[in-house]
Amino acid sequence: MCHAVENFRTFDPCTLLSPVPAVMVSCRGKADGERPNIITVAWAGTVNSDPPMVSVSVRKSRYSHGIIRESGEFVVNLVDAAHCEALDFCGVRSGREVDKFDRCHLTPMPAVGLSHAPAIAQCPAYLACKVRQVLELGSHDLFLGEVVGVQVREDLFDEDGSLHLERAGLVAYNHGVYQRTAEVLGFFGYSVARPEVLARRMRAYRP
Ligand SMILES: Cc1cc2nc3c(=O)[nH]c(=O)nc-3n(C[C@H](O)[C@H](O)[C@H](O)COP(=O)(O)O)c2cc1C
Repeated sequence: MCHAVENFRTFDPCTLLSPVPAVMVSCRGKADGERPNIITVAWAGTVNSDPPMVSVSVRKSRYSHGIIRESGEFVVNLVDAAHCEALDFCGVRSGREVDKFDRCHLTPMPAVGLSHAPAIAQCPAYLACKVRQVLELGSHDLFLGEVVGVQVREDLFDEDGSLHLERAGLVAYNHGVYQRTAEVLGFFGYSVARPEVLARRMRAYRP
């Protein structure tokens, strides 16, 4: 049974899901010598584990839309706080008018498994994707991408080989605001972990 309460405001139906990752999606057309481009995307998500798949939703009006559609490739670059300004810039200027790699002092590098779309060398990690489906949803077209290659910067690994992505200071997007993800509150399954496991694991997150 539900009770009406007074300390809430009712919104029209909208996409308030928060926080979400804000990522820089890089792409390049198929023709020789095409300039690579970057579009900032907040409507991105993990959609399948096997095969690994992610989605990015892009309006038809974006310059990147045509590039991704034609090349069938895109790269999802995770963004750290040091590159938040570039993240914002790539979301407010179009590649039709400006070379965003150049303007943001970013370097394109080959992405594992792809022929056209480059990754961004300054980002701590990327997912190289091949487009498997395009769903026309209304305002946005959803590109379903199969992840065909992943690279993560060396300094985010411990000596034992474990990945500490939480140390990258990744940017989250929270209803119009960028935030740095910082404090570790727990880890997957910590609510049921034995006390000695909890203490040992948490030490690794608070060095
Ligand atoms: C934080 C942020 C998130 C954005 N998310 C999306 C998105 O998910 N999909 C989209 O089509 N545009 C999104 N945009 C807008 C595009 O990034 C923006 O229109 C960009 O200039 C398009 O670049 P392009 O024309 O070079 O492709 C976002 C912008 C910002 C600042």
